[in-house]
Amino acid sequence: MIRRLAPSVLNADLAQLADQVRLVEDAADWVHLDIMDGRFVPNLTFGPPVVAALRPHTGRYLDCHLMVEDPEALLPALAEAGANGVSMHVEPLDDPGRALAAAAGHGLDAGLALKPGTPLDRVLPFMDRVDLVLPMTVEPGFGGQEFDQRVLPKLAAAHRAIVASGRPIALQVDGGVNATTLPRCLAAGADTFVVGTAIFGADDPAAAAKAFRELIGGGDG
Ligand code: DX5
Ligand code: ZN
Repeated sequence: MIRRLAPSVLNADLAQLADQVRLVEDAADWVHLDIMDGRFVPNLTFGPPVVAALRPHTGRYLDCHLMVEDPEALLPALAEAGANGVSMHVEPLDDPGRALAAAAGHGLDAGLALKPGTPLDRVLPFMDRVDLVLPMTVEPGFGGQEFDQRVLPKLAAAHRAIVASGRPIALQVDGGVNATTLPRCLAAGADTFVVGTAIFGADDPAAAAKAFRELIGGGDG
Protein backbone atom coordinates (compact mmCIF):
# COMPACT_ATOMS: atom_id res chain seq x y z
CA MET A 1 0.00 0.00 0.00
CA ILE A 2 1.58 3.25 -1.13
CA ARG A 3 0.84 6.17 1.13
CA ARG A 4 2.61 9.46 1.07
CA LEU A 5 3.07 12.47 3.30
CA ALA A 6 3.58 15.68 1.33
CA PRO A 7 4.32 18.60 3.67
CA SER A 8 3.29 21.91 2.10
CA VAL A 9 5.80 24.71 2.65
CA LEU A 10 3.27 27.45 1.88
CA ASN A 11 3.12 28.48 5.54
CA ALA A 12 6.71 27.60 6.38
CA ASP A 13 9.36 30.31 6.77
CA LEU A 14 9.95 30.84 3.05
CA ALA A 15 13.04 32.95 3.75
CA GLN A 16 14.66 29.70 4.87
CA LEU A 17 13.04 27.30 2.46
CA ALA A 18 15.82 24.73 2.22
CA ASP A 19 16.19 24.58 6.01
CA GLN A 20 12.45 24.21 6.46
CA VAL A 21 12.37 21.29 4.00
CA ARG A 22 15.32 19.70 5.76
CA LEU A 23 13.38 19.83 9.04
CA VAL A 24 10.64 17.56 7.71
CA GLU A 25 12.57 15.64 5.09
CA ASP A 26 12.96 12.37 6.99
CA ALA A 27 9.20 12.07 7.37
CA ALA A 28 8.28 13.45 3.96
CA ASP A 29 7.73 11.29 0.90
CA TRP A 30 7.02 14.30 -1.29
CA VAL A 31 7.48 18.05 -0.84
CA HIS A 32 4.38 19.99 -1.88
CA LEU A 33 5.01 23.35 -3.56
CA ASP A 34 2.06 25.71 -4.04
CA ILE A 35 2.54 27.83 -7.15
CA MET A 36 -0.03 30.66 -7.37
CA ASP A 37 -0.37 33.43 -9.93
CA GLY A 38 -2.60 35.97 -8.17
CA ARG A 39 -5.24 35.40 -10.84
CA PHE A 40 -6.58 31.88 -10.55
CA VAL A 41 -6.35 32.41 -6.80
CA PRO A 42 -6.07 35.68 -4.84
CA ASN A 43 -2.55 34.93 -3.68
CA LEU A 44 0.85 35.00 -5.33
CA THR A 45 3.70 32.75 -4.27
CA PHE A 46 6.65 31.56 -6.32
CA GLY A 47 7.43 29.84 -9.57
CA PRO A 48 10.04 27.77 -11.38
CA PRO A 49 13.10 29.74 -10.18
CA VAL A 50 12.33 28.90 -6.56
CA VAL A 51 11.73 25.25 -7.47
CA ALA A 52 15.14 25.26 -9.17
CA ALA A 53 16.73 26.89 -6.14
CA LEU A 54 15.31 24.24 -3.83
CA ARG A 55 16.17 21.31 -6.10
CA PRO A 56 19.83 20.83 -4.98
CA HIS A 57 18.80 20.86 -1.32
CA THR A 58 16.56 17.81 -1.32
CA GLY A 59 16.30 14.48 -3.04
CA ARG A 60 12.59 14.31 -2.34
CA TYR A 61 9.93 14.25 -5.05
CA LEU A 62 8.87 17.83 -5.77
CA ASP A 63 5.08 17.92 -6.14
CA CYS A 64 3.98 21.20 -7.71
CA HIS A 65 0.39 22.30 -7.22
CA LEU A 66 -0.30 24.82 -9.96
CA MET A 67 -2.98 27.29 -8.90
CA VAL A 68 -2.59 29.35 -12.05
CA GLU A 69 -4.72 30.30 -15.06
CA ASP A 70 -2.26 28.90 -17.59
CA PRO A 71 -0.43 25.90 -16.14
CA GLU A 72 0.75 24.68 -19.53
CA ALA A 73 2.90 27.80 -19.92
CA LEU A 74 4.88 26.82 -16.82
CA LEU A 75 5.60 23.22 -17.76
CA PRO A 76 8.91 23.64 -19.65
CA ALA A 77 10.43 25.81 -16.91
CA LEU A 78 9.20 23.49 -14.14
CA ALA A 79 10.67 20.45 -15.87
CA GLU A 80 13.93 22.32 -16.33
CA ALA A 81 13.83 23.31 -12.63
CA GLY A 82 13.72 19.66 -11.59
CA ALA A 83 10.07 19.33 -10.56
CA ASN A 84 8.81 15.74 -10.50
CA GLY A 85 5.06 16.14 -10.77
CA VAL A 86 2.47 18.82 -11.46
CA SER A 87 -1.17 19.09 -10.44
CA MET A 88 -3.11 21.36 -12.76
CA HIS A 89 -6.52 22.70 -11.84
CA VAL A 90 -9.10 21.49 -14.29
CA GLU A 91 -11.25 24.65 -14.01
CA PRO A 92 -9.18 26.95 -16.27
CA LEU A 93 -8.14 24.24 -18.75
CA ASP A 94 -9.91 24.30 -22.09
CA ASP A 95 -8.31 20.97 -23.03
CA PRO A 96 -7.17 18.92 -20.01
CA GLY A 97 -6.05 16.07 -22.26
CA ARG A 98 -3.65 18.37 -24.06
CA ALA A 99 -2.30 19.73 -20.76
CA LEU A 100 -1.74 16.21 -19.40
CA ALA A 101 0.03 15.19 -22.59
CA ALA A 102 2.20 18.30 -22.42
CA ALA A 103 3.22 17.54 -18.83
CA ALA A 104 4.02 13.94 -19.71
CA GLY A 105 5.96 15.17 -22.73
CA HIS A 106 8.15 17.17 -20.37
CA GLY A 107 8.76 14.09 -18.22
CA LEU A 108 6.47 15.28 -15.43
CA ASP A 109 3.90 13.17 -13.61
CA ALA A 110 0.60 14.80 -14.48
CA GLY A 111 -2.28 15.38 -12.09
CA LEU A 112 -5.62 17.15 -12.16
CA ALA A 113 -6.90 19.17 -9.20
CA LEU A 114 -10.47 20.24 -8.48
CA LYS A 115 -11.84 23.03 -6.32
CA PRO A 116 -14.34 21.84 -3.69
CA GLY A 117 -17.34 22.77 -5.84
CA THR A 118 -16.04 21.29 -9.11
CA PRO A 119 -17.68 17.95 -9.95
CA LEU A 120 -15.57 14.82 -10.29
CA ASP A 121 -17.08 14.37 -13.77
CA ARG A 122 -14.58 16.92 -15.02
CA VAL A 123 -11.67 14.50 -14.48
CA LEU A 124 -13.33 11.12 -15.16
CA PRO A 125 -12.65 11.24 -18.93
CA PHE A 126 -8.91 11.36 -18.16
CA MET A 127 -8.56 8.40 -15.81
CA ASP A 128 -6.74 6.50 -18.56
CA ARG A 129 -3.84 8.96 -18.52
CA VAL A 130 -3.79 10.97 -15.29
CA ASP A 131 -1.18 10.15 -12.60
CA LEU A 132 -2.87 11.96 -9.71
CA VAL A 133 -6.28 13.32 -8.77
CA LEU A 134 -6.59 16.07 -6.16
CA PRO A 135 -10.05 16.96 -4.87
CA MET A 136 -9.26 20.07 -2.82
CA THR A 137 -10.81 20.20 0.65
CA VAL A 138 -10.54 24.02 0.90
CA GLU A 139 -10.85 26.80 -1.65
CA PRO A 140 -7.33 27.01 -3.05
CA GLY A 141 -5.16 30.01 -2.23
CA PHE A 142 -4.28 29.98 1.43
CA GLY A 143 -3.13 27.64 4.15
CA GLY A 144 -4.76 27.37 7.55
CA GLN A 145 -8.36 27.04 6.37
CA GLU A 146 -10.93 24.66 7.75
CA PHE A 147 -11.36 21.25 6.10
CA ASP A 148 -14.56 21.06 4.01
CA GLN A 149 -16.05 17.69 4.88
CA ARG A 150 -18.59 18.02 2.06
CA VAL A 151 -15.75 16.91 -0.23
CA LEU A 152 -15.50 13.47 1.41
CA PRO A 153 -18.12 11.80 -0.87
CA LYS A 154 -16.25 13.15 -3.92
CA LEU A 155 -13.02 11.76 -2.50
CA ALA A 156 -14.65 8.34 -2.07
CA ALA A 157 -16.05 8.51 -5.62
CA ALA A 158 -12.59 9.40 -6.93
CA HIS A 159 -11.19 6.39 -5.09
CA ARG A 160 -13.76 4.12 -6.72
CA ALA A 161 -12.94 5.54 -10.14
CA ILE A 162 -9.24 4.94 -9.55
CA VAL A 163 -9.85 1.34 -8.50
CA ALA A 164 -12.03 0.85 -11.58
CA SER A 165 -9.28 2.26 -13.81
CA GLY A 166 -6.81 -0.36 -12.61
CA ARG A 167 -4.12 2.29 -12.89
CA PRO A 168 -1.67 3.48 -10.18
CA ILE A 169 -3.28 6.92 -9.81
CA ALA A 170 -2.45 8.83 -6.61
CA LEU A 171 -5.43 10.24 -4.71
CA GLN A 172 -4.26 13.38 -2.97
CA VAL A 173 -6.01 15.55 -0.39
CA ASP A 174 -4.99 19.13 0.31
CA GLY A 175 -6.51 21.69 2.64
CA GLY A 176 -7.22 21.54 6.35
CA VAL A 177 -5.65 18.11 6.73
CA ASN A 178 -4.78 17.55 10.38
CA ALA A 179 -4.76 14.71 12.91
CA THR A 180 -8.57 14.79 13.09
CA THR A 181 -9.40 15.09 9.40
CA LEU A 182 -6.60 12.90 8.00
CA PRO A 183 -8.14 9.61 9.20
CA ARG A 184 -11.41 10.55 7.51
CA CYS A 185 -9.56 11.10 4.22
CA LEU A 186 -7.73 7.81 4.68
CA ALA A 187 -11.06 6.04 5.20
CA ALA A 188 -12.39 7.62 1.98
CA GLY A 189 -9.42 6.20 0.06
CA ALA A 190 -6.90 9.03 -0.09
CA ASP A 191 -3.27 7.89 -0.21
CA THR A 192 -1.29 11.14 -0.56
CA PHE A 193 -1.68 13.73 2.18
CA VAL A 194 -0.70 17.37 1.90
CA VAL A 195 -0.24 18.90 5.33
CA GLY A 196 0.68 22.56 5.70
CA THR A 197 -0.02 24.48 8.88
CA ALA A 198 -0.54 21.34 10.98
CA ILE A 199 3.20 20.74 10.39
CA PHE A 200 4.78 24.16 9.90
CA GLY A 201 2.52 25.88 12.42
CA ALA A 202 3.48 23.35 15.09
CA ASP A 203 6.06 24.17 17.76
CA ASP A 204 8.22 21.33 16.46
CA PRO A 205 7.61 20.80 12.72
CA ALA A 206 9.99 17.82 12.56
CA ALA A 207 8.12 16.01 15.33
CA ALA A 208 4.76 16.93 13.79
CA ALA A 209 5.83 15.57 10.40
CA LYS A 210 7.04 12.35 12.04
CA ALA A 211 3.71 11.97 13.85
CA PHE A 212 1.79 12.43 10.58
CA ARG A 213 4.04 9.91 8.87
CA GLU A 214 3.20 7.37 11.56
CA LEU A 215 -0.51 8.21 11.42
CA ILE A 216 -0.58 7.59 7.67
CA GLY A 217 1.25 4.27 7.72
CA GLY A 218 2.52 2.52 4.60
CA GLY A 219 5.36 4.01 2.63
CA ASP A 220 6.31 5.43 -0.72
CA GLY A 221 6.77 3.12 -3.65
C1 DX5 B 1 -3.87 25.89 -0.34
C2 DX5 B 1 -2.71 25.03 -0.68
C3 DX5 B 1 -2.32 24.07 0.36
C4 DX5 B 1 -1.96 24.66 1.70
C5 DX5 B 1 -2.48 23.71 2.71
O1 DX5 B 1 -4.40 26.45 -1.49
O2 DX5 B 1 -2.96 24.29 -1.84
O3 DX5 B 1 -1.30 23.17 -0.09
O4 DX5 B 1 -0.59 24.83 1.91
O5 DX5 B 1 -2.35 24.24 3.96
P1 DX5 B 1 -3.15 23.67 5.20
O6 DX5 B 1 -2.67 22.26 5.43
O7 DX5 B 1 -2.84 24.59 6.29
O8 DX5 B 1 -4.62 23.69 4.82
ZN1 ZN C 1 -1.50 22.74 -2.38
